[in-house]
Amino acid sequence: MPQFVVAITGASGAAYAVRLLDVLLASGAEVHMTISPAGVQVVGHELGLPVTLNDFSADVIFPDRKTVNPESPLFKFLFATPAGMPERRWAIDAENKSDAFARLHLHHFQNFMTGIASGSFQTSGMVICPCSMGTLGSLASGLSSNLIHRAANVHLKERRPLIVVPRETPLDEIGLANMQTLSNAGVIVLPAMPGLYHEPNCLGDLIDFVVARICDQLGVEHQLMKRWGDSR
Ligand SMILES: Cc1cc2nc3c(=O)[nH]c(=O)nc-3n(C[C@H](O)[C@H](O)[C@H](O)COP(=O)(O)O)c2cc1C
Repeated sequence: MPQFVVAITGASGAAYAVRLLDVLLASGAEVHMTISPAGVQVVGHELGLPVTLNDFSADVIFPDRKTVNPESPLFKFLFATPAGMPERRWAIDAENKSDAFARLHLHHFQNFMTGIASGSFQTSGMVICPCSMGTLGSLASGLSSNLIHRAANVHLKERRPLIVVPRETPLDEIGLANMQTLSNAGVIVLPAMPGLYHEPNCLGDLIDFVVARICDQLGVEHQLMKRWGDSR
């Protein structure tokens, strides 16, 4: 099974990260996750999830749908649908939850002793989702001051897929230049810019649009949205 690295930084859009983790685990992949301190703040603020830098339980990220307050941000971003529309659920199958959770590994953002800090650790790609403009700038400058930067450097030097999902608006010239630098180096710059042409019915459909495009880049199969031109 493929192994992916998913890094969460402090840009807005924590729901993209949670859904991405959900879909990657559901695909059977092994997922190595790391999160910056600002990422912890944004996940807490936007989704109300008490994720920490050190401590980790997949139940914290993927609470049972039945127990999630319908008024909570997590429910609104991932599960809420208009009346009469089918229910939205986690991609992780409830029956195989413990197997999926066992494939999710947390690495402290300052731990350079862990596997993903080295090119000898085999992965099939890395996604930084969402990617702050700060982390983007660090990558464009070749900085390696935390595990997120280092793992990204590793993916670049080993010529493995590296996808960054920046979220900022408007964009200044420094941010644009950093994106150009990264794109020139082979990074896929995939901004959190959901399209509206797939007739979204709810926020979850917009989240899934971006996650679908990330999965396409990683070669992970999914059923997150109907593809343009697919009449089935
Ligand atoms: C609620 C919240 C939302 C934020 N949204 C963004 C954002 O959309 N884009 C961005 O580049 N930074 C955003 N920031 C600022 C970053 O978190 C900040 O620049 C931080 O230093 C990034 O550090 P990191 O890249 O190590 O996570 C936000 C911060 C907070 C608290």
